[in-house]
Amino acid sequence: MKSDLLKRMIDELEKKGRLAMERKYMQHGSTTIFEHSVHVAYTSLQMKRKLHIKADETSLVRGALLHDYFLYDWHIKGDRRSLHGFAHPQKALENAREDFALNAIEENIIARHMFPLTLLPPTCREAWIVCLADKYCALGETLSIRLPGTTANS
Ligand SMILES: [Fe+2]
Ligand SMILES: [Fe+2]
Repeated sequence: MKSDLLKRMIDELEKKGRLAMERKYMQHGSTTIFEHSVHVAYTSLQMKRKLHIKADETSLVRGALLHDYFLYDWHIKGDRRSLHGFAHPQKALENAREDFALNAIEENIIARHMFPLTLLPPTCREAWIVCLADKYCALGETLSIRLPGTTANS
């Protein structure tokens, strides 16, 4: 079972914004960007709770769900593909700002999640959690293995 908070946030972001678009774009291996974002949000929440980290759960989950809200297929060859790793956090932030009223924590999560590829590190606990959870989930998705704590079924 996903947490109630996660379910509520997915529902809200799909209804009020373009989160559903992420269902048609692939991220790593056979995982869609939507699935990846849910994995990252779930894993972030697990990390926060298991390690008893003081953090804002709502902002953590919202930011994690929106961290890859760039809304294009990055596998298509072209300029965008070569710059994707560096540029997509800013594009995700612009898109998310268009659709939602973001707080500073959510903005930091989205903008800084690719550290250290992008040079500026996260500046709040929530953004550090998502930055780590994103890499952990990406590893499991790329290798097509289910790492502990990445999905509600594991
Ligand atoms: Fe990303
Ligand atoms: Fe990601």
